Amino acid sequence: MREIKRKVAEAVEYIHSLRSFSPQVGLILGSGLGQVAEEIEDRLMIPYQDIPHMPVSTVRGHAGHLVMGDWGGKQVACFQGRFHYYEGYSMAEVTFPVRLLAALGANVLVVTNAAGGMNPSLNPGDLMLITDHINFMGTNPLIGPNDAELGPRFPSMTSAYDRDLATLVCSVASEMGIELKHGVYIGVSGPSFETPAELKAFSLWGADAVGMSTVPEVIVASHADLKVLAISVITNIARGEAHEAHHGQVLDVAGKVGPSLARLLEKTCARI
Ligand code: HPA
Repeated sequence: MREIKRKVAEAVEYIHSLRSFSPQVGLILGSGLGQVAEEIEDRLMIPYQDIPHMPVSTVRGHAGHLVMGDWGGKQVACFQGRFHYYEGYSMAEVTFPVRLLAALGANVLVVTNAAGGMNPSLNPGDLMLITDHINFMGTNPLIGPNDAELGPRFPSMTSAYDRDLATLVCSVASEMGIELKHGVYIGVSGPSFETPAELKAFSLWGADAVGMSTVPEVIVASHADLKVLAISVITNIARGEAHEAHHGQVLDVAGKVGPSLARLLEKTCARI
C-alpha cells in the first residue's frame, strides 16, 4: 500500500504539472461508453501511457485517456476505458484510477459498465442502477497490508452504493423520461462467459445482472470514502441457455445507449 501511495503521488504530480485541477466527480466508463468523455468542455485529454504508473488498456472499445474538464457545471475527471482483471492486470492496477481520483480530491465516483441481464425484467438496451453487488471475482483489491491513511482495514460495504446519489439519479431519469431499472450486480472475473448452471446459481443468490468489472473499483472507492453511483448498460440477456453475449454485441448495444446515458449522467452531475 505504501507503494500505491508513492505511485499515485507521482501520477498526481504529473497531472498537476499539466493543469492545476481538483475534480469533484470522477467517472470510470465501460465498454462502448467512451463518447461520454466527448461532451466534457474545456477538456484536457491525457493518454494513459503518459501518466506515471498508469496501466494501458488492451481491449477494443477502450480508448485509454484520462479526460479532465467541466461537465454539468462540475469539474470532472473521466477515465475513458478501464482495466479488467481478466486482461491480466493485478487488482492494484485495476483500481489505480480510483486511488488516483481520491488523491486528486474527488468525493464522488460514477461508474458505468456493460452487463448481462439475468433477471427476466432486464433486456438489451436497458439501464440498471446498481443498488448493491456480489463479489464473485475470487479475490479482493484490499488483500495485503492496510495503510490506515488510505482507509480502514475492514471497510463497511453496507452503503457502498450511495443512497442519496441513487435517489438523485432516479428523479433526474424520471424528469427526462428515461427508464432506469435497478438491481444487484454480480462481478465475475471472466473472461469466459457464464455457464447456464452459474447463471441459475447467481439468480438464486439475488443477482440481477452479471459483468466482469466495477466490483473492485467500488470496493476501493468505499475504502477511500468516495460516494459511488453505478449504472449498468444491459447489453445482452444472460438467462440459462439463452446467453447470447459476444463482445461485438456488447459494444454495439453499449454504443447505442451511450448518448442517453451521457445526458442522464450530465444532468445528475449538475445536481450533485
Ligand atoms: N456476462 C459477463 N459479463 C458481461 C456480460 C455477460 O453476459 N455482458 C456484458 N458483460
